[in-house]
Amino acid sequence: MIIVTGALGQLGGDVCRILKEKKIPHKGIDKNDVDITSEKEVISFFEKIDFDVLIHCAAYTAVDKAEEEKELCYAINAKGTENLARVCKEKNSAVIYISTDYVFSGEGEMPFEADDEKSPLSVYGKSKYEGEKAVMSLCEKYFIVRTSWVFGEQDRNFIATMLRLSETREEINVVCDQVGSPTYSSDLADLITQMAQTEKYGIYHGTNEGFCSWYELAKKVFEYKNIPMKVNPVTSEEYITPAKRPKNSRMSKSSLLKAGFSLLPHWEDAVERYLDKK
Ligand SMILES: NC(=O)c1ccc[n+]([C@@H]2O[C@H](COP(=O)([O-])OP(=O)(O)OC[C@H]3O[C@@H](n4cnc5c(N)ncnc54)[C@H](OP(=O)(O)O)[C@@H]3O)[C@@H](O)[C@H]2O)c1
Repeated sequence: MIIVTGALGQLGGDVCRILKEKKIPHKGIDKNDVDITSEKEVISFFEKIDFDVLIHCAAYTAVDKAEEEKELCYAINAKGTENLARVCKEKNSAVIYISTDYVFSGEGEMPFEADDEKSPLSVYGKSKYEGEKAVMSLCEKYFIVRTSWVFGEQDRNFIATMLRLSETREEINVVCDQVGSPTYSSDLADLITQMAQTEKYGIYHGTNEGFCSWYELAKKVFEYKNIPMKVNPVTSEEYITPAKRPKNSRMSKSSLLKAGFSLLPHWEDAVERYLDKK
């Protein structure tokens, strides 16, 4: 049996859908079932449930707001993850913890390897790294899967925002000096459900293939949808946000390949499949 946290979220929703399609026994849970920040709630919820793998997709994901809501962000991403990791340890179950490119500093231009130094720039990135450390210190059977720039059917993502803005605007400024990999939630969910059926524990990077800037992603969206929009490239210094974001979010897939998992499709292919549904 597989437990999926954050089942009403973007990624957790897709993981549950794919498990259902594959007829793999699972139970999706969200905040209304158990608040993961409460150790007491977590312990009593899992008392009567046995499971083999916990896919932990629940998180505090409001990157900019986290700079103000530091305590809540840590309560969910660090303490919440620790509470779940303890349950997994006690039940000798495996955990798949979804993490982020934001654990890295973003320096240089080379893709980060799974075990490269972590140096998060934001509260969100730091809290997710604390979650990684809790999983690594408490559990023996763990996967850490770092992803980036996720978009999915729930339309709470950069691409959906671009499409929404195109209804009222003819010109837009988009950051051109942050480079990473857009990732289709459904492609990532497929990889995660494959992992859940193996014992190939380890630290992986799970993103669609290839790299681009937010500016290039925006251009791709408007070109593919034939939307006339003037996209102006701007630098991170010109487009200030509360949370500092890494300029280099490239992540290497060498551990994925070494373990024999297939790489996800190229990001452009993923964006086209997503846009075809719009
Ligand atoms: N989105 C991205 O671009 C991105 C990039 C890199 C990594 N990630 C990671 O990928 C994973 C999935 O992200 P996502 O985009 O699917 O996030 P999401 O759509 O924001 O979903 C997160 C889910 O967690 C739930 N949750 C929040 N606080 C909780 C609590 N205290 N107890 C139980 N559940 C709680 C949320 O419920 P409510 O909505 O009710 O709060 C929501 O359903 C996360 O670990 C995230 O850090 C995401």
